[in-house]
Amino acid sequence: MAKLPILEFPDPRLRTVAKPIVHVDDALRALIDDMFETMYAAPGIGLAASQVDVHRRLLVLDVSEHSDAPMVFINPEILFSEGEQTYQEGCLSVPGIYADVHRAERIRVRALNRDGNQFECDAHGVLAVCIQHEMDHLAGKLFVDYLSPLKREMVKKKLAKARREAAAEAEDAAQGRANVAGAGSAGSAGATAAQGRANVAGAEPAPDAIRGSAGTAASSPPSA
Ligand code: NI
Repeated sequence: MAKLPILEFPDPRLRTVAKPIVHVDDALRALIDDMFETMYAAPGIGLAASQVDVHRRLLVLDVSEHSDAPMVFINPEILFSEGEQTYQEGCLSVPGIYADVHRAERIRVRALNRDGNQFECDAHGVLAVCIQHEMDHLAGKLFVDYLSPLKREMVKKKLAKARREAAAEAEDAAQGRANVAGAGSAGSAGATAAQGRANVAGAEPAPDAIRGSAGTAASSPPSA
């Protein structure tokens, strides 16, 4: 298994429309396992293949409290939907940003499971939200598309600022390491470098870079 890099808004590859999957084989199951590892590590409650730059109709999710109920949807289709709900959504491709989105309250989905067998699933609440959010990814759509153009522009700027800060921290940490190497001792510069590395490690994938120190990954709303 391997953790995969997650594309981030406004990467144009996130706009690619995913194609149906023809063969459910071991190669696909290996991708599914990697996607679960990536999703749980982020941490997130859902991940579409589009987010890891594989433009095929596949999504994985786990909305359970203890992250012990993995679900796989291959070639998902919504058979019907009804009602409306509003949920504060987050997205692993738009780290640290959360916004209310209106979606159907209940849906019925038909898909293939990891063995290639067809199933139908009735979903409501957060599961229904998550499936609809991930299916949007497969259509090249992001939850920020539901925001006003002004808000979307603000999100873009916030993410760019967070990336610049993360890059600057990484550079400081690298500089710190270089200083330590030059000095040949692990004095206070070593401590600074270690702190720099800790910050950088903490900032990746940086769910809190925008929210500042107010939130931790554990207390943030789930992202998908
Ligand atoms: Ni998402």
